[in-house]
Amino acid sequence: MKKVMIIGVGPGFGLALAQQFGELGNTVVMVARTASHLKKYQQQLNENGIQSVSHVVDVTNHTQVMHLFQCEPEVDTLIYNVGKKDLDDPLSSSLDTIETTFKTNVLGCIDACQQFLKTVHPRTILVTGGGAALHPSAMTTTLSLTKAALRSYVLSLHEALLPHNIYVGLLTIQGLANVGTGMQPKEVASAFVEAAKQRKKAEIFYPGGQANQISEFDQLKQG
Ligand SMILES: NC(=O)c1ccc[n+]([C@@H]2O[C@H](COP(=O)([O-])OP(=O)(O)OC[C@H]3O[C@@H](n4cnc5c(N)ncnc54)[C@H](OP(=O)(O)O)[C@@H]3O)[C@@H](O)[C@H]2O)c1
Repeated sequence: MKKVMIIGVGPGFGLALAQQFGELGNTVVMVARTASHLKKYQQQLNENGIQSVSHVVDVTNHTQVMHLFQCEPEVDTLIYNVGKKDLDDPLSSSLDTIETTFKTNVLGCIDACQQFLKTVHPRTILVTGGGAALHPSAMTTTLSLTKAALRSYVLSLHEALLPHNIYVGLLTIQGLANVGTGMQPKEVASAFVEAAKQRKKAEIFYPGGQANQISEFDQLKQG
């Protein structure tokens, strides 16, 4: 049986990912900061016949991330789904806010990938990106800059790991959860399952298959 670790499991895409990768027969390793939520998700998966374990880890804490992979050396697929999504503007956002968001959205991913690559048989890394990476705007300043940095890292990692037959895929999610076509968490999770199967593209634009001309936030404003 294979093991899939999802870092960043909440009620949205994270839980849907756990459910779908679990339904395929994988043992699911769920990671987040809130023990009570993880326990609830585990019970839910268990009722659906899915085997899971969970770890309470804050990705901004390097010692905790290192310890996580020491406890879980046999993971095949890593999904980095953590994302701090608060909206802010370039004038009033504090350096503290930007630093915390950068640590959560970018450094946490880099740390997790580097630790995962030291484990026994890393095979696949999938990362949840966002359309904000492609469309910087005054309303999404820190989200856009961190998702752009994340995108840059993941595309570089894809190239670096190609010769090692380790697949790295960035899922650029160009929409808001539960708003519009294809944005139910279940549907979004299916795109990750497909990416893990195909093991081809460095970046998958979802939904639609190509980069949107305008951001999901502008689409929402236009109605
Ligand atoms: N929701 C959207 O509309 C949307 C659209 C496009 C892209 N995305 C991207 O999709 C991903 C998932 O978003 P989602 O809204 O569906 O979230 P989700 O899967 O419902 O939850 C993600 C979980 O990550 C955990 N987390 C946050 N900070 C963490 C940290 N420092 N260390 C460990 N775990 C942490 C949180 O749980 P704890 O608080 O328990 O740690 C949170 O519940 C994000 O990368 C987001 O940027 C979302």
